[in-house]
This record gives sequence, structure tokens and C-alpha cells, in this order.
Amino acid sequence: MGTLSSSLLAWYGRMGRSLPWRDDPTPYHVLLSETMLQQTRVGAVLSRYEEILRAAPTLEALASLKEEEMLKLWEGLGYYSRARNLWKAAQKIQEDGRFPDDYEGLKALPGVGDYTASALLAIAFHKKAIAVDGNLERVYSRLRMSMKEGPGLKKEAGSFFLEELGEEDPSAFNQALMDLGELVCLPKGTPRCEECPLKGLCLAHHERAELQFPKKKAPSTRKTVHLQVFLLSYGGKRVLRIRPDKGLLASLAEFPNAETDDPKEALSLLGLRAGPLSPLGHSSHTFTHLRWEMDWHEGELLSPPPEGYLLLDEEEERALPLPSAFSFGRKKRVPGD
Ligand code: ADE
Repeated sequence: MGTLSSSLLAWYGRMGRSLPWRDDPTPYHVLLSETMLQQTRVGAVLSRYEEILRAAPTLEALASLKEEEMLKLWEGLGYYSRARNLWKAAQKIQEDGRFPDDYEGLKALPGVGDYTASALLAIAFHKKAIAVDGNLERVYSRLRMSMKEGPGLKKEAGSFFLEELGEEDPSAFNQALMDLGELVCLPKGTPRCEECPLKGLCLAHHERAELQFPKKKAPSTRKTVHLQVFLLSYGGKRVLRIRPDKGLLASLAEFPNAETDDPKEALSLLGLRAGPLSPLGHSSHTFTHLRWEMDWHEGELLSPPPEGYLLLDEEEERALPLPSAFSFGRKKRVPGD
């Protein structure tokens, strides 16, 4: 057994986390947990994973949910295309009659990319594969003082760890690396090198240069957009609408909003006539390529909203999946929610 894998696996035996999806890593459990973990932190996934499993204990149960039920279960986790793809993948597996257990078959499932296919191969099927996420990239980059970034770094990290995996159990090896990246080889100013089982092998640690790796990507070109958002009522009902079926947060509900700094202009862009508005405050939400700065206002409509808007009572509003970007408004409107 190589020094890296033996030190890593001994550490994992002592320090590895007990996580709900590790108790019984069936292909369904791994697909669900890895899909949830793609853009969401372990802490935020923990309770939601169990909640989703209670609602859909099997792949078959998940496949037979209605799309709206699936989105409702996913509410607040963000990146809703993950939920839709997971649901479609479950249906495809049901139709095909088997869960694929090779790379090509897994990649053919909606939403399953290189990372998820590799995680399924390693963790559910114990096949040789490395699921490289940002954590593994950072661990590798520091170990070898790699000057690479982006896809080049991902590829190198994958080949390096595949070689180091040798004949060890791919499931334990991958999850050990994930835990090392999330618990010890932390980003920015806080790596816990003294606790690291690989410190004797780490080139960056030897040079006390941990914080210089991984090399930075080109600065983000994320755009900021200012929105005016409205909590409006008409006849005691709330005014919402459904977003277009393509693009950001496709087909999900939202409070009426428009891209401008001026609330009056926003109302006219929305085709709405309202009485006096009271300011409710400000919130912001960051997407991968975009940041929303949102000014919130409350008021009453003076005439019914035009076609395309929904008028919902409180119960109907609660039942509608609402993206996190709009949760500021739900907190304001639904006491105790
Ligand atoms: N991050 C992504 N996948 C993970 C897993 N299976 N265990 C712990 N952290 C993870």
C-alpha cells in the first residue's frame, strides 16, 4: 500500500465523518446525496437529505413524484435544474429497468456529469474512479505545488489520485479525500496542517506555501443586477407569477420584480398599478454568474393584475416552491414560516 493511501485511509478510519448517506451507499442514496452536495455545503444537506428520503424512500418513489412535488422538496437548496434532472434520471432508470454501473451509462443520465458519474462508480459500485471537486483540486494542488488551475488542475488531480488509489477501496479512498478537503486542507487562511495525515508528503507544507495554492483562476466576471421586488396584495390575496420556462430559475415562482433602481418605473414595467408603497428592506442573492441586489416594497394593487399573474391565498402560496432568492419576502409575509 502506498504511503499516501495508507496514511489517508488510517486517518479516515479514525476521523472520517459519519454521514447519513454513508450508512447504506446504494446507487440511489449516492445519486441523491452527490447531487445535493454539488453546490451545497454538507451542513446544509444533512437534514434535507433525510427529509427527501422520507418523502421518496426509493428511486421508484422519487420517479413517481409530480414535478411540482419534486421542486417543493428541493425548495431552498437552489440550482433547481439539479432537482429536475435528478427526477428525470430516476424516470430513465425506471424505464430502462436497471441502474447503470459503467461510466458511459451513468453519463447518459440527465444531470450526471463527470463528477457524479465518478462518485457513483467509486462509492456505490466500488470501481476505480476519482470524483474531483474543488476540495480534491485544492488537496492535490498543495501536495504537488501544481501551477495549474481550472480544467487542467482537475485532470491532473484525477490522474494523480487514481494512481495513488492502487488496489485500495475506491469508496473509502474518495470519501477520505473529500473529508480531508472539508475538514483539514481548508481553503484561504485556515488549513489545519498539523492535523493532516499527508503533511509529510505535502510539498506546499514543506515550503510553508499552502496558501499560495491552488493558483487563482481569472477574476470572476459576475455581473450585479439591481431589482425592485414587490409584496403586493389584491383582495386579500398575494400577487406572484411564474418565471419563463427557459433561463435562470426557469418555471419557478417569484414575487413581481423588475430590473431598475426606481420602484415606480418597475411597477410600470410590470404593468401594475399600486397605491403607496412602504419600503421593507434590502436583500441580495448570488448565483454563479450573477448577483441580485434586491430592494423590497410592500403595497396594495389598485386594480386587478393583468394576465400572467397569480393571486394566491396563504395556503396556496405556501404550497408553491419559491427560490431562496425570494425567501426574504416569504419571511415578511408568512409569520412563522
Ligand atoms: N462532498 C461531496 N460529496 C461528499 C461525500 N460523499 N461525503 C462528504 N463530503 C462530500
